[in-house]
Amino acid sequence: MELDTRDSGAGRGDPQELLVAAHSAILNAYAPYSSFKVGAALRSASGAIYTGANVENVSYPQSQCAEASAIGALVAAGERTIAAIAVVAERVENCPPCGGCRQRLSEFADAETPVHLGRPGGEPLTMTLGELLPSSFGPAELGR
Ligand code: THU
Repeated sequence: MELDTRDSGAGRGDPQELLVAAHSAILNAYAPYSSFKVGAALRSASGAIYTGANVENVSYPQSQCAEASAIGALVAAGERTIAAIAVVAERVENCPPCGGCRQRLSEFADAETPVHLGRPGGEPLTMTLGELLPSSFGPAELGR
């Protein structure tokens, strides 16, 4: 069998495709307060890509991260599994997901899910969600 070199492993797809999608989402970010625009892209189990951008609010705590926006799009489309994740920010080379978003992502992803950080065209920094969120609180703690 021929190896698909675009595949980051276990059928999780092309990281570059995901980085391009996350980068495109930055264009629609609404970040007038921080001026820190972020785009996120999630590949679902079906292979479809869902994107999101950060949406800030004048009442700062009501703001929403790019990852949360992308999760909303994935769930609204009827999907429930995240196979791969990319996050791109306008102003920094690598934008690691905030703590809250690591927990949000873990609801639909697993410890092996790759999280690609960087820019399209560059070599991404790829970590697993398990590396970003070790010893996480999950369904097992609720006895599920
Ligand atoms: N932000 C995200 O969208 N994702 C992250 O994981 C980190 C932070 C946004 C939130 C806020 O709109 C801006 O970046 C500055 O914190």
